[in-house]
Amino acid sequence: MSKRELTKAEIEKLIELSIKAKDKAYCPYSKFHVGAALLDENGNWYTGVNVENASYGGAICAERTAFVKAISEGQRKFVAIGVSSDASEYTRPCGICRQFMIEFGEHLQIFLIKPDRSYLKVILKDLLPDHFKL
Ligand code: THU
Repeated sequence: MSKRELTKAEIEKLIELSIKAKDKAYCPYSKFHVGAALLDENGNWYTGVNVENASYGGAICAERTAFVKAISEGQRKFVAIGVSSDASEYTRPCGICRQFMIEFGEHLQIFLIKPDRSYLKVILKDLLPDHFKL
């Protein structure tokens, strides 16, 4: 897990990709579009959206979609993820996503991004202190 600071250009890309990804959300039930952009340690980018289901519990959040894409490509180390929605407040990762992401490192930088592109950076371990480990 890299604790390095993102460059200005990387932050811009994180914002851009997560906002763009949001348009592809499949959310006919909640109508709450979420987009995520994940940066791995090798400089690769993965986007994700929330994908809902008629069986509501089958929904997967944008953050996990991005992680699953990356992990299934063989990546295991991540630097940052951006999360965008249309809400005027920051959209914070749900409890399941926090546990899911912390499996791959507690120092992940999470950029909560508003539609006006303003953002709040938080560190995953601060969102999920004393997390479960086997
Ligand atoms: N959702 C995400 O994709 N990420 C979050 O951080 C919060 C919630 C999705 C799940 C569901 O499809 C919709 O937003 C409403 O909860």
